[in-house]
Amino acid sequence: GTPLRVAADRAHVKFGTAVNTTALADDATYRRITAQQFSSVTAENVMKWETLQPQRGVYDFTEADRLVAFARAHGQSVRGHTLLWHNQLPAWLTEGLADGSIDAAELRGILRDHITTVVRHFKGKLYQWDVVNEVFEEDGSYRNSIWLEKLGPGYIADAFRWAREADPNVKLFFNDYNVEGVNAKSTAYYGLAKQLKARGVRVDGFGIQGHLSTQYGFPGDVGANLKRFADLGLQTAFTEVDVRVPLPADPAKLATQADYYRGLLSACLGSRSCTSFTVWGFADQYSWVPGVFDGEGAACLYDESYRTKPAFDALRAEL
Ligand code: XIL
Repeated sequence: GTPLRVAADRAHVKFGTAVNTTALADDATYRRITAQQFSSVTAENVMKWETLQPQRGVYDFTEADRLVAFARAHGQSVRGHTLLWHNQLPAWLTEGLADGSIDAAELRGILRDHITTVVRHFKGKLYQWDVVNEVFEEDGSYRNSIWLEKLGPGYIADAFRWAREADPNVKLFFNDYNVEGVNAKSTAYYGLAKQLKARGVRVDGFGIQGHLSTQYGFPGDVGANLKRFADLGLQTAFTEVDVRVPLPADPAKLATQADYYRGLLSACLGSRSCTSFTVWGFADQYSWVPGVFDGEGAACLYDESYRTKPAFDALRAEL
């Protein structure tokens, strides 16, 4: 059948996947499907701090560069993920903060150096960067993290300014989960986007991860949520979509899963602001879901034997 990326081209969106670079190196089927089906790739892990700056001031772009080269060879675009997060930080940083050998002023310099070095390194090679990842709590307050604790909420504007200085062309995004619909958390992003704009700090886009579970229902108001960000002049993107089901999966659960995937894609296609629809991995055997969500899994478009699920057909038909 028609590859997703071909159908997506006709619909004027990119269809992406997160890529596990170990699987990309070791598994020929994984490699073939990545190249055939997707027009955009995101590093599942290898553009995070712990990989890019394993020692203080020592950067390692080996794995990330390999992915960028793969994408280039296959005519794919690359989303950058992520310049600032509270997880997957290197031990030298978390330990240095814990034992007091790194103080707040130093941390600000470390953040600036990381963002500047990384964005410059990939300049011209990526179309979007997740600048800040998961910086709000569910109630819309700022997430408690080392960044907030040591630097105060101004770190978010700083991160966007530094990224912009390092590459004026790449689109700079917020990114978070549980922000598909209109709720306290997505409204916090909306408010911050407005506030930053008023202060002359340019934010280009709002990334909606889209980690759904059929147990919690399909989020309401997705279209209205995309629209309000579009009205503010922001792009939007679904950046990490997967739909987990209570295990074991069965045909009824997989039919619901297909509806959820289709619902998010349909919202994207219905909004002029939505640039891309990225799944967080495509094959169940590599999915992060079973390791994190007890009793849930089977969240991807392909099962462990690379058989496509109803969700795959539903997405292709929707495009
Ligand atoms: C996850 C990866 O999939 C895992 O392999 C890793 O162990 C932890 O991070 N939100 C994000 C992603 O923004 O970076 C996370 O990726 C999933 C949740």
